[in-house]
Amino acid sequence: MTKRIGVMTSGGDCPGLNATIRAIVYKAVGTYGWEVLGIKKGTTGLLRSPLDTIQLTPSLCNTAIMRTGGTFLGSTNKDNPFYFPTENGGVKDRSKDFIKNYHDLGLDALIAIGGDGSMKILKRLCDLGGLNLVTIPKTIDNDVAGTENAIGHLTAVEVATEALDRLQPTAASHQRAMILEVMGRDAGHIALAAGVAGGADVILIPEIRYSLDKVCSRIKTLAMDGSNFALIVVAEGVKKEDGQPLTVTDPKSGRLRYGGIGHYLSEKISLSTGAETRVTVLGHVQRGGEPCAEDRILASKFGVSAVDLIAKGQFNHMVALKGQDIIAVPIQIATASQKLVDSESTMMQIARGLGICFGD
Ligand code: F6P
Repeated sequence: MTKRIGVMTSGGDCPGLNATIRAIVYKAVGTYGWEVLGIKKGTTGLLRSPLDTIQLTPSLCNTAIMRTGGTFLGSTNKDNPFYFPTENGGVKDRSKDFIKNYHDLGLDALIAIGGDGSMKILKRLCDLGGLNLVTIPKTIDNDVAGTENAIGHLTAVEVATEALDRLQPTAASHQRAMILEVMGRDAGHIALAAGVAGGADVILIPEIRYSLDKVCSRIKTLAMDGSNFALIVVAEGVKKEDGQPLTVTDPKSGRLRYGGIGHYLSEKISLSTGAETRVTVLGHVQRGGEPCAEDRILASKFGVSAVDLIAKGQFNHMVALKGQDIIAVPIQIATASQKLVDSESTMMQIARGLGICFGD
């Protein structure tokens, strides 16, 4: 019997989402002859009236879309079905509506492409019963547990590395210390990987407590050793030296998000070392643009494998990367913890082996 499956992108966007949708559609239609319904704007598409969906075909999801950034289905990191915004400014639990609308659309299964926040919401929906769910991890932060990489992370690392490549010559020309603030929320994966790839002298990540004295002494030593520049990469989630987070308030939603650590460090380092400092906050540049080749490959592997899981009836699992293999991880495991930088990991040992200062 022909199956009908739904696909949605949920949470913050990242490069590689369209390539994932393409892989799902090619495999589901091409191999199994199923119908694929795209749910628009993440969970919102299954909760707004009328329901917001689109029939996805291989010609609609052709090769051109795999090169594009963003998600052509749209996404949201606000409309949590358990606290869904109401017209009078309150929130309401719409989780049961979500499941009902899934059935009203005649879906046999749903593939949700999401980060750690979305995974937790999806797990709660699964716990209610009545959903055949398969998830695909995506996030530039790479903080989803159970998978070595999530879609979008490697492109963000490329962008941050390119930023360092561009900052180094101008830093050297003016004998400056350049501070690059990258995203990642509470995880330092982007900062660590880009810092290693881009030749950073100092990398500060939320997982490692730093001392400004140690950072500044490293910058002074670099100058004494004849270096005419310093490159410092800092993850947005790094706190002030006293442990206080630096945040900005979203003017619309009133929600807090990280921001400001680059400028905080710039002032402290300049005052303490006498170095001329400049700050680059990379921001959403890391989230947009074309996915790199590795992300397109990962998107293709995850998309095809997610459809195969549905064919096998293996629901409530997330597809995940382990070495060269794609495995299925129970969604409870994927949501049980956040994947942070392990201070004993090979990557950390390599970074320390290169003499990179973490301020500890
Ligand atoms: O989780 C992805 C991410 O880009 C984080 O790195 C960042 O802190 C956050 O989303 C930004 O969210 P928004 O797009 O809502 O500003």
